[in-house]
Amino acid sequence: MRLSVIGCGYVGLVTGACLAEAGHDVMCTDIDAGRIAQLKAGQVPIYEHHLDKILVSAGKSGKISYTVDPGEAIRFGDTIFICVGTPPRPDGSADLSAIDHVAQQIAAEARSPKLVVEKSTVPARTGIELQRALSAYSRGNGGFRVASNPEFLREGTAVEDFFHPDRIVVGVEDPAAAEQLREIYRPILERKFTCPVHQGKCPDNYKGEFLVTTISSAELIKHASNSFLALKISYANAVSDLCEKLGANVEEVTHAMGLDPRIGTQFLKAGLGFGGFCFPKDIQAFISLAATVGVDFEILKAAERVNKQRIDRFLEKISKALWVVKGKRVAILGLAFKANTDDIRFAPALEVMKRLLDEGAEVHACDPEAVGKAKKQFPQAHYHEDPYKTLEGAHAALICTEWDVYKKIDWQRAGSVMARKLVVDGRNLYSPAKMKELGFEYSSFGRE
Ligand code: UDX
Repeated sequence: MRLSVIGCGYVGLVTGACLAEAGHDVMCTDIDAGRIAQLKAGQVPIYEHHLDKILVSAGKSGKISYTVDPGEAIRFGDTIFICVGTPPRPDGSADLSAIDHVAQQIAAEARSPKLVVEKSTVPARTGIELQRALSAYSRGNGGFRVASNPEFLREGTAVEDFFHPDRIVVGVEDPAAAEQLREIYRPILERKFTCPVHQGKCPDNYKGEFLVTTISSAELIKHASNSFLALKISYANAVSDLCEKLGANVEEVTHAMGLDPRIGTQFLKAGLGFGGFCFPKDIQAFISLAATVGVDFEILKAAERVNKQRIDRFLEKISKALWVVKGKRVAILGLAFKANTDDIRFAPALEVMKRLLDEGAEVHACDPEAVGKAKKQFPQAHYHEDPYKTLEGAHAALICTEWDVYKKIDWQRAGSVMARKLVVDGRNLYSPAKMKELGFEYSSFGRE
């Protein structure tokens, strides 16, 4: 099938690449001409596991193409996926101006009927507004149907998630739109693709369900899912605060809790809290959406508050240990908002860095993927590739992202180059007993 993808960010690029790999003909466009030029030149503008190889193979087979001309992209596909950004406005609500802009372009440029699919995370009722905008700006050039098909892709494992979904949700107004989307996802549902992650030998426990809902339900499913996961993390963090006060160990507590299948073990990891471009903005947008219809989503406001307090708690631990922060050399290990991505948007590490710089600390930092992006935002910090170089002469090591390479640090070696053997661990990567055995002053979350 011929598909158009508007917006080549994390969601658009992964969606376009994976649908091309699944056998469709995909044309992608973006207002960032530099990004399209990079893609045409065979470069991958974001770090996402497996994405480079799919883009190469889809490029070679001619299944994916790129254009700076939105009109060309719009006319190419029978189905158009809108994957543009919906960043938060100062009041927390989602800024939908990019979606509105794309709607106007589609209405102006289409020459045949189109199924317009919202893939970007949007508040409920956006589909209705999108349909209204398409009709209002349409020049009698085809007729538009709208659908919502939220993505549930985790950064870092987005390609794996795309090919092995738990559920594919399609919110539609008519059965024909549902069928069109089922056809698009047929290769994934029937597992007729060569898996780029497992080299064609996927474990057989993947059973993606294809769910057809109303458009408003589909929109709500996305916000409700992400907000629930954020809630779960904040719950674990609140329990972690309690553990510190009562001398319990949060890992023992959350592990046992998670063995109850009604609770589940995932997303109960205490630490620096959630960041990234999804959870913080989705929870805010959900609170704001609820407020517009008179619902006070207090439980989510509390989750948001608990998450913000993580940074304060972390800095309190640092100040308590260092006594005076000004003039101290601190080493930040990890800048990305989580491991296996180069994304630093709303990364707790960057807020930590900002506050330490404001206090007059000399900040040295490293990250396997995110240094380039962080450097642009905080050029006054010092950056290194090697964690041991970062730790040289440091009065404290601060663990901000749970990268595997940091889990494997040889602390005996690191301790020999640090000015003070102090580790404040925002991701609970190490055993407190082992760190103490190695002669470190060590603090983490919920395990004092
Ligand atoms: C999320 C959702 O998981 C995905 O389904 C959605 O569609 C997009 O948003 P992502 O933003 O890539 O994906 O990150 P995710 O892996 O969910 O982690 C979010 C944040 O929570 C990270 O900062 C992570 O470090 C933090 N986290 C996660 C915790 O602090 N504790 C946990 O137990 C789990």
